[in-house]
Amino acid sequence: MPNQPIETERLILRPVLDADLDGMFELDSNPKVHKYLGNNPITTKEQAQEGIDYLKKQYKERGIARWAVIHKDTNEFMGWSGIKYLNKSEGMNGFHHVYELGYRFIPKFWGKGYATESAQAWVNYMFAKTDVKRLYAAADIPNKGSVNVLQKVGFKITNEFVFEWEGQQFDCYWLELEK
Ligand SMILES: CC(C)(COP(=O)(O)OP(=O)(O)OC[C@H]1O[C@@H](n2cnc3c(N)ncnc32)[C@H](O)[C@@H]1OP(=O)(O)O)[C@@H](O)C(=O)NCCC(=O)NCCS
Repeated sequence: MPNQPIETERLILRPVLDADLDGMFELDSNPKVHKYLGNNPITTKEQAQEGIDYLKKQYKERGIARWAVIHKDTNEFMGWSGIKYLNKSEGMNGFHHVYELGYRFIPKFWGKGYATESAQAWVNYMFAKTDVKRLYAAADIPNKGSVNVLQKVGFKITNEFVFEWEGQQFDCYWLELEK
């Protein structure tokens, strides 16, 4: 995990904190955000706190996890972006023990290139500062915005798979990016 925040032109990336509770609730209670994530947005702040606690656990146990994205000029919490280490129980498309890129933003920050900027920062960090040689990502096939972000930072679609999660099935692209 980076030992200090990552700064881009417009963003600051840093670990998610308990102080991000309101922002995390705003993000994950929005039905638009969950359109391609099972249409099951959270309804309580306790659920948002559980999400934060899970990230904090991953920072400690896996050394890396998604980070908060903060607007440099306004200091607003915009969402999260970053790398998840897929352990044995959380593999996707048959892949385990790999590094996967993902992001999730509050809709008022969509369409301005922020997701792409954050994704590029993580690709740069992983390939310049770690030994990781290949990154992976998955995106729901109709989630064009997400697929575009991945392709814009260089990911290539390598196959399609059905992701089963919480009793639902998602037709997904699997994407890879080599250093
Ligand atoms: C996925 C997500 C982060 C994309 O955010 P965004 O603000 O659209 O991303 P960016 O502005 O950085 O860029 C997205 C690119 O895709 C394009 N795009 C966005 N939505 C699109 C759509 N519905 N159809 C086609 N293209 C689209 C944008 O125009 C942009 O390309 P461009 O710069 O060439 O114009 C955002 O929609 C989100 O947070 N969704 C909810 C969570 C989620 O689905 N996460 C991904 C799970 S796999």
